[in-house]
Amino acid sequence: MGRFYITTPIYYVNDEPHLGHAYTTIMADVFARYHRIAGDEVLFLTGTDEHGQKVAQAAKERGVDPQDHCDEMVERFRTLWATLNISCDDFIRTTEARHRRVVQQILQQLYEAGEIYPDDYEGWYCVPDERFWTEKDLVDGKCPECGREVVRISERNYFFRMGKYQAWLTDRIRNDPRFVLPASRRNEMLGFLRRPLNDLCISRPKARLSWGIPLPFDESYVCYVWFDALINYITAAGYCQNEEAFARWWPASCHLIGKDILTTHSIYWPTMLKAMGVEAPDTVMAHGWWLVDEEKMSKSLGNAIRPLDLADKYGVDAFRYFLVREMVLGMDSSFGETGFVHRYNSELANDLGNLLNRTVVMARRYLGGIVPQADLNHPDLSALKLQASKTLDGVTDALGELNPSGILDAIWDLVRQANRFAEVQAPWNLARDPNSRNTLKATLYGLLETMRYLAVLLFPVLPDKAEEIWAQIGADGDVKKQTMHGLQPWGRLRAGARLNAGSPIFPRIEPVEDDHSEKTDMDEGKGALVPFSEFQKLEFRVATVASAERVPGADRLLVLQVSLGDEQRQIVAGVAEQYRPESLVGRQIVVATNLEPATIRGVSSEGMLLAASADGRVALLQPDAEVPDGAEVG
Ligand code: MSP
Repeated sequence: MGRFYITTPIYYVNDEPHLGHAYTTIMADVFARYHRIAGDEVLFLTGTDEHGQKVAQAAKERGVDPQDHCDEMVERFRTLWATLNISCDDFIRTTEARHRRVVQQILQQLYEAGEIYPDDYEGWYCVPDERFWTEKDLVDGKCPECGREVVRISERNYFFRMGKYQAWLTDRIRNDPRFVLPASRRNEMLGFLRRPLNDLCISRPKARLSWGIPLPFDESYVCYVWFDALINYITAAGYCQNEEAFARWWPASCHLIGKDILTTHSIYWPTMLKAMGVEAPDTVMAHGWWLVDEEKMSKSLGNAIRPLDLADKYGVDAFRYFLVREMVLGMDSSFGETGFVHRYNSELANDLGNLLNRTVVMARRYLGGIVPQADLNHPDLSALKLQASKTLDGVTDALGELNPSGILDAIWDLVRQANRFAEVQAPWNLARDPNSRNTLKATLYGLLETMRYLAVLLFPVLPDKAEEIWAQIGADGDVKKQTMHGLQPWGRLRAGARLNAGSPIFPRIEPVEDDHSEKTDMDEGKGALVPFSEFQKLEFRVATVASAERVPGADRLLVLQVSLGDEQRQIVAGVAEQYRPESLVGRQIVVATNLEPATIRGVSSEGMLLAASADGRVALLQPDAEVPDGAEVG
C-alpha cells in the first residue's frame, strides 16, 4: 500500500471562486479518489491564503476587521467544495494558529542559520497601490497597474538567500524528470534558471502592511505573503507539530497548480525547503488555463464562469467529467457551453447512460430483474472480460503518469466495447429463441458485470452517478468502499441479486446555439489589395520559443509557449512535420500577435507563427541578429 499526498494551491480568500479554482480542486479530488480506490493512504489538502495587501484592503473598504472578513469569505470556498463533492481531508487557512506558529518557527530558524538577512531595498513605489515595482515593470515611468506617479524609495527589508541554491535547484530539475511536469513547464523553469537567481525579499514593514505574520526576530515587519503561503503544505502535514505524521506524509506526492504560479512552486518553494533541511516535493504539476472567449478568466474582465451555474444546470458529476475530460493537461483550453453539451450528449448520455439503461431494461424484461446465474466461461464473454482487465491496467498506468484524460480513455475503451458487445450479441434476438437461453444469460450478466466495473472505476469522477449505477445493478455493499483490487476476479456480481428500477442517469439535453464557431474562411479575400491603413492594424513581434510539444492526436501541430519579453503566449503552429519540438526551443521567431485567438483541436492559440512555404517545405522566419523579445517587426 502506498501513500499519496496531494495539494491544491490555497486560494486567495477574497476571490469569488470561479471555474479555474474549481478545475484545480476537482482535478486534485479525482487524483485523490483514484489513489484511494487503488488502495493507497491519501492526504488531500486544500485551503485559503488569507494574508497580504489585497485582503487588508478589502476588509478596510468594508469597514470590518480583516480576520472577520476572512472568516466570512472562506465560506464561499467551503460551500462550493462541499457542493462539488470535494473529498479533501484537510482545509487549511493561513490565519490559523497552527500555521502561524510553524511559519514563525521556520523564520526564526532560518534567521539564526544566516539564511535570512537584512538589507536595503530600493525600488519604485506606488503610494496609492502600496506596491513596489522594478524599473522594467513601469509603463512610461508610471505605475503599470493604476497609471499614477511612482516614487523612488529605499527601505530596509529581510531577504532569503535563495540565490545560493541556484546550482542545486538546476541539477534537481534537470536530473529528475518528474519534479516539474509537464515537460514543457520543466524546460521553462530550466530556462528561467539560466539567468541569475536573486535573493528573495520576504518581509514587509508593518508601517505599510500590518495584515500578515509578524517576523519573530523583528516585530516591525510581517512576512511576505508567498513565503507564508507556501509553508501551508508542510504545516498541514504536521511539520514542527507531529513528527510521526510529517515523516509519513512528506515529501508531498504532488502539488497541483496552475501555470500562473509555477515559479513560486518550483523555484521559491524547493529552495526554502532546502534551506530548512527538508526534502522537496516529488512533483509540481502545472496545468494550463481555462480561457473564456479566448481570454483568461478574471473578475475584472467580467468573463468568469461561475462553477455553480453549470453544476446547477447540468449536474455536478457532468461538470466534473467535462473538466477532467476536456483539458489536455498542461495546455490552455477554451471553455464553451456548446462543447460541454456536445460531450455530455455523446459520451455521458449516449455511451455510458445508454449502456446502463439498455442493460437494466433488458435484464428486467428478459430475466425478471434478477442478476442471472450465468456461465462465466461462456466463449462469447472472453473479449469483454479481457477488456475489463486491460482497462484496470490502463487506469493504473495513467494514474501513475498523473494523466487524468488517459484514465478516462482506458475506461471508455470498456464502455465502447460493452456497447459493441450488446449490438453483436443482440439480446433482443436471443430472447426470442429458447435454445439461446444460456447465451442470453451470459450476455446480460456480462453487461451487468461490466457496469459493476464501471461504477467503481468512475466513482472518482462521478461519485453520485456511480452510486446510482451501483444501486441499479443490485450490487452488494457500498460503492464508496470498493477498491480496484476488489473488482477482481471478474464475475463477482452476485447471481440472484435484484436490480433496482432507476431513471436514466444522464438524460439527453438540447444542444445550445453554437455561438463560437471555429470556422475560418482562409481563402476569402486572398489576392485582393489591402489599404495600408488595414495593414497597419496588424502587429508582428519577435518572440523566443520557451517550449514546444506535439498536440496529442494532431500530426501536423505543435503547441509553443513563446516569450514576448513582458508576456508569455501559447500558439499552435502547423509545423510538426518539418520541425522536431526540441529543435525550436530557444529560437527566435516572428509572430502575428494581434489576431483574434482561435481554438485548434481544443488547444488555444493566441497568435500565429510566420513561416515561408513552398512545395510542402516550410522555413520559419527568424531575425538575422538577436533582438530583444517583443521587438516589433514591420
Ligand atoms: N494564493 C495563491 C496560491 C498560493 S499557493 C501556496 C493564488 N491563489 S489564486 O486564488 O489566485 O488561485 C490561483 C490558482 O487558481 C491557479 O494556480 C489555478 O490553479 C487556479 N486558476 C485560476 N484561474 C485559472 C484559470 N483561468 N484556469 C485554470 N486554473 C486557474 O495564486
